[in-house]
Amino acid sequence: MLYQNACIENAKETQDIRVENGLFAEIAPRIAPRENEEVKDLEGRLVLPPFIEPHVHLDATLTAGDPVWNMSGTLFEGIECWAKRKDKLNAEDVKERVRRAVKLYASNGVQFIRTHVDVTDPSLVALKAILDVREELRNLADIQIVAFPQEGILSFPNGKELMEEAVRLGADAVGAIPHFEFTREYGVESLNFACELAAKNGLLMDVHCDETDDDQSRGLETLATRALELGLKDKVTASHTCAMHSYSNAYVLKLMRLLKMSGINFVANPLVNTHLEGRADTYPKRRGVTRVKELSEAGINVAFGNDDLFDPWYPMGCGSMRDTVYLGLHVTQMMGYHDIMNSYRFVTENAAKVLHLGESYGIAEGRPASFAVLEAKDWYEALSNNAPVVLSVRKGEVIARTQPAVKQVLR
Ligand code: FE2
Repeated sequence: MLYQNACIENAKETQDIRVENGLFAEIAPRIAPRENEEVKDLEGRLVLPPFIEPHVHLDATLTAGDPVWNMSGTLFEGIECWAKRKDKLNAEDVKERVRRAVKLYASNGVQFIRTHVDVTDPSLVALKAILDVREELRNLADIQIVAFPQEGILSFPNGKELMEEAVRLGADAVGAIPHFEFTREYGVESLNFACELAAKNGLLMDVHCDETDDDQSRGLETLATRALELGLKDKVTASHTCAMHSYSNAYVLKLMRLLKMSGINFVANPLVNTHLEGRADTYPKRRGVTRVKELSEAGINVAFGNDDLFDPWYPMGCGSMRDTVYLGLHVTQMMGYHDIMNSYRFVTENAAKVLHLGESYGIAEGRPASFAVLEAKDWYEALSNNAPVVLSVRKGEVIARTQPAVKQVLR
């Protein structure tokens, strides 16, 4: 199969792409078609590596309004709504919603998903269901699972044992939620426990870290220190780090040195954190999004996630990575030309580093032929116009296609 005239990652000159046996066999400015080879002319459309959702909660996905809507939109009312929905949670319910969510993602060119799954549940029903359903969805997406202790490790009965059981069952990454633990000391101990669990089992880590406006919430410094000392480094991701938005600049100056040394990754979730943070503020209201610009400028890897998809905590979402990038650039004031052009990396290459995808990802000869074709000439136009993913190709197979809308102005 030969794809002609692809604008690969905003390149000025188009390239042709030959796909063979599910791999990128050849990428060059002009490739002569072979006899009987199928040819598709992309006519200069943008081609990107598949989008990656590096942070979502698939166990709660697609439950907004069921059985009740979150009327205030706050985190706490979200928890109340979820408590009512949790009664109905069973394996088939979880699987059915995960299937729908993964198909939504697929239609938007997302082929890799990291989901946090709540393991503060003695039956681990959601974890078992998602471990099961991910096999059936392999043709559409790779799903990485984080054992996520929503109600804490030290602050929930048998929290440590549940984390260990989740790892034994097959979780890919270890989570924690230090800012939610009863005390600061529990927070530190939970991080020590989680880091050691990850190190012992050779797993990745992804911590809900300081998802609060409290400028005294300092799980991040402990996480980065342990990542450094245990040699976990870029296997570790700090998600949210909203408190960093509110830290004093003097403290951030000191912290940055450690963050650079530690090599850890960051995931910001601009849609959900602008919506949920700043709720204790009157005016001015904080945005709650971590210091993406400063972290990026320091050479630290940052990706963007959606966090929630139509659930009690976030009532919107269509499984596209575009909106989180679009809003993320606004709230972090990264709207310079180069910032905009390069911003697709937050949900492609940077997210691939978070997930440790290595050479199984990216547009290069010899790698799996997985990519998204967008109805735009470059990422600037795609982002600005909310261009659809017209083709999503996974290991050489077209797994989703969208017919762009035709708009007509009649007068
Ligand atoms: Fe989250």
